[in-house]
Amino acid sequence: MSGKVLVTGGCGFIGSWTVDLLIEKGYDVVVLDNLEWQVHRGRMPEWINPKACYVFGDLRDYRLLREIISDVDYVIHLAALVGIGQSMYEVERYTDVNVRGTAALLESIINSNSDVKKVVVASSMNVYGEGKYYCETCGEYKVVQSRSLEQLRKRIWNPLCPDCGQELKPVPTDENKSLNPLSIYAWTKLAQEQLSMIIGRAYGIPVVVLRYFNVYGPRQSLSNPYAGVCAIFICRLLNGKPPYIFEDGGQLRDFVYVKDVAEANILALERRACDYQVINIGTSKPISILRLAKEITAILKVDIEPHVTYKYRKGDIRHCFADISKAEKLLDWRPRTAIREGLRRLIEWALKGKWELMDRFDKVYEEMERKGILI
Ligand SMILES: NC(=O)c1ccc[n+]([C@@H]2O[C@H](COP(=O)([O-])OP(=O)(O)OC[C@H]3O[C@@H](n4cnc5c(N)ncnc54)[C@H](O)[C@@H]3O)[C@@H](O)[C@H]2O)c1
Ligand SMILES: [Zn+2]
Repeated sequence: MSGKVLVTGGCGFIGSWTVDLLIEKGYDVVVLDNLEWQVHRGRMPEWINPKACYVFGDLRDYRLLREIISDVDYVIHLAALVGIGQSMYEVERYTDVNVRGTAALLESIINSNSDVKKVVVASSMNVYGEGKYYCETCGEYKVVQSRSLEQLRKRIWNPLCPDCGQELKPVPTDENKSLNPLSIYAWTKLAQEQLSMIIGRAYGIPVVVLRYFNVYGPRQSLSNPYAGVCAIFICRLLNGKPPYIFEDGGQLRDFVYVKDVAEANILALERRACDYQVINIGTSKPISILRLAKEITAILKVDIEPHVTYKYRKGDIRHCFADISKAEKLLDWRPRTAIREGLRRLIEWALKGKWELMDRFDKVYEEMERKGILI
């Protein structure tokens, strides 16, 4: 396929991999990105693709969007503020960028003479809250809102069946699971999904929502203490400090390699079967946080044991990993990169770059204790 693709947030982690792959596949690419200070520190990243056209501006700038959109065929919408914790105190800014920004983008599409044929929207596993669970005693799936503070104080980590009290078994989370956003960030992602679907259906512009699970890989911010857990662990270990593990480290997550996610973004543009669908993008191969820390330690060949805190961080869920059968069926997509290989590439990149590897986690941990977020 060919055509011109607008990638919002195309200077970021997932965006830059998506831009590179689009160019490789012969698309014309225009990027809109405001080089958000927290991510880029006001500098252009070194992975700017010389074959793409860059517009450095804000997603909320409707007039600018109208100009850009006029000759665009497809949109991949990735621009967003992405700090879960931060969204809980910067409520207005997160709502403004993520929700109003998406509204401006959609309005520019419907009010211009453009011929946008599809919009792919980046959503998140965070819209689910807790993952899906099964009770072996009751023989049924159970919806878990959140774990009680009483059970967490007793250090019973797994969610309990609301009917029989037994520990529940985590199972892959599919797209039909009930939604329960537990942060403002997660709520803005759900708002983006719904805004886009409403406008897409009303105007006959196919929309595809991709719910990414934990994305990791090179170009991920290494010194942002609110960023991904892989980057935080690597940064700690390279500073000679142990990774801190919340609870007992048994929480399960689904880590998907960034290039695989970029591929899913492009398949979502190309496959008609996924129009107006919401699709999980993960691996369906859960790994515990403690195992993850050990894998990273082994690849780095450092002799530092992770520090298990046995503390619960307020707002954290216990388990969530993806059922990806819908992505396999509708996108003909499956993840190609095994976790060990992906981590190896991330670490190789972290070691060879001239990145600022300052570890700010101690400060964040102290602050969480002071604010009563850890129990
Ligand atoms: N990384 C993950 O694990 C993950 C998981 C689920 C969903 N997502 C979603 O994927 C998308 C990309 O995330 P990422 O990890 O690449 O984050 P990122 O911070 O690396 O990239 C976001 C980009 O958007 C830009 N941006 C922010 N505000 C903007 C604005 N007002 N105007 C224009 N550009 C703006 C930033 O400068 C940055 O380049 C986001 O929508 C995020 O919610 C990411
Ligand atoms: Zn039960």
